[in-house]
Amino acid sequence: MNKKDDICIYFFINFEFKKIMCGIVGYIGKREAYPILIKGLHRLEYRGYDSAGVALINGKQQLNVYKAKGKVADLEHAVESKDISGTIGIAHTRWATHGEPNQVNAHPHYSESEELAIIHNGIIENYAVLKQGLIENGYSFKSETDTEVLVQLIEHIKKTDKTDLQTAVQLALNQVVGAYAIVVLDQNNPDKMVAARKGSPLVIGIGENEYFLASDATPIVEFTDKVVYVGDEEIVHLRRNKELSIKTIGNVVKTPEIKKLEMTLSQLEKGGYPHFMLKEIFEQPTTLATSMRGRVNIEHNNITLAGFIDNKERFLNAKRIIITACGTSWHAGLIGMHAIEEFARIPVVVEYSSEFRYRSPVINSDDVVIAISQSGETADTLAAVELAKSHGAFIYGVCNVVGASIPRAAHSGSYTHVGPEIGVASTKAFTAQVAVLTMLALMIGREKGTLSQERYLQIVAELGKIPEKIKETLKQDDLLAEFAKTFTYAQNFIYLGRGYNYPIAMEGALKLKEISYIHAEGYPAAEMKHGPIALINEEMPVVVIAPHCGTYDKVVSNIQEIKARKGRIISIVTEGDTIVRDMSDYSISIPATEECLVPLLAAIPLQLLAYHIAVVKGRNVDQPRNLAKSVTVE
Ligand code: F6R
Repeated sequence: MNKKDDICIYFFINFEFKKIMCGIVGYIGKREAYPILIKGLHRLEYRGYDSAGVALINGKQQLNVYKAKGKVADLEHAVESKDISGTIGIAHTRWATHGEPNQVNAHPHYSESEELAIIHNGIIENYAVLKQGLIENGYSFKSETDTEVLVQLIEHIKKTDKTDLQTAVQLALNQVVGAYAIVVLDQNNPDKMVAARKGSPLVIGIGENEYFLASDATPIVEFTDKVVYVGDEEIVHLRRNKELSIKTIGNVVKTPEIKKLEMTLSQLEKGGYPHFMLKEIFEQPTTLATSMRGRVNIEHNNITLAGFIDNKERFLNAKRIIITACGTSWHAGLIGMHAIEEFARIPVVVEYSSEFRYRSPVINSDDVVIAISQSGETADTLAAVELAKSHGAFIYGVCNVVGASIPRAAHSGSYTHVGPEIGVASTKAFTAQVAVLTMLALMIGREKGTLSQERYLQIVAELGKIPEKIKETLKQDDLLAEFAKTFTYAQNFIYLGRGYNYPIAMEGALKLKEISYIHAEGYPAAEMKHGPIALINEEMPVVVIAPHCGTYDKVVSNIQEIKARKGRIISIVTEGDTIVRDMSDYSISIPATEECLVPLLAAIPLQLLAYHIAVVKGRNVDQPRNLAKSVTVE
């Protein structure tokens, strides 16, 4: 990256994108490893959480492995009377895809002799063939996992070739088809561990005579700000009191590139809030300001996105823009579509990455593909990027996690810069994605001349006021908490919006579904009468986003239709509105703003409403059931 704000790393990562959403931590150094590993697992728990485990080599050169089904707290409970000493260790939190989430399938996995232990994030696709070969050589298996196959293979090679651990790992990985981030311990070598990556992320933290290792930087940040992002197909040799050494599985020696971590510990703490999600909702005035810093120049009413400027011609010559993303990021993409079509007059299609990649989409070399992803690791979006790239399209990433796979695979892009988002439900990343896409739309529009200078200046000036207006909107938190109590009875919710606010209706519904487990649907308000209106009765809460904008009168009519069927209206209105407010059972106002910027304000009460309903219902807000933060499986 040569420009701080933008993604300028171009790599082509060629692999099958099936991975497991697990978290990996490792430590070697002078301190007791266990507390560091457990803390690290807690930090990574947002990635996946159905089982966890730890392996430590103690002072007597014994390799102890402990595992538990459930959360990291269950693991802590399971090791209460166990020997957890040792200054070298690895740990893992799992979100199962292969093999049910139980203690046996949890990582780490021992090798046959129990001299080696491995943790793994990924999928070994040819594990069945490898397993068969190992069974023929007398190996037996305790778990249903592909990971156990890998550690047995490493042991087999180590023993038959009489080679060291690093070489055995290298030879084994040469036989493996799939994706992995692995770390291996050898009880006969308590002063080293070997890690490798292909596809799944891996970061090494460099301390004073100690190394930390993790799937992302969150477990590392409190110990050091010096990190090395392990590259694809690289094997890292971490030795006590010795320099880090890296070589590829093809045996090319690499020089570790040490980077400074742009993350602070306070970003990973709840900072007095009961949940990360609430903290992240309240951070939005700041995160939006950060997202715009250095990009929106209020004094000169100007926007500068370096990733766009460097590739202006690609955008100006684009016949079409394809936006690809999943979930909340896809909703941000829909808002981006509205803005790009309105200001830049370029046709835009918004595609679910999972659908896009598996049909036979028409992609041309003059298409620009915008891939949106908070984590930057979503498997379907990454695969969509690779597909579009193989057709010669220009890829622009809008991602949050610096150095993640999607920004690395993109030709250019813009980071959202909201810091780590820990709550599984995306909030601050969403508003920043919308802000970045809006900035992009405004820049293209101005460059193309499809947006007048006057309108451009008006919107830029208004964009600068959004953080303050979000702050205003957040003041209604108490009111929303009150409303929430009323609606916990509901089995279903409907969310309605039009134009820029239709995606907000879908986003509000998604937030409610994922954290409160209440079924909710987001609809374009006018579509109600084509079917869903049959659902309306006095029990049905209908959230209507009805700010003062182009379709206001139409939305008022849509509300009348619902009122006539006794639906209960919760409205999001512009400050000073009386018409919709009087028609509503409950109403929340947001400050007046430009129509294209309303989503940035309207999203806030919907995030808070979902949050408070989930809290009243006693849900695990930050780690809702069945979900993981980084969806690295197809
Ligand atoms: C919902 C949510 C998910 C993600 C989706 C894509 O709150 O967080 O729907 O938006 O899994 O994730 P990213 O943006 O990391 O690609």
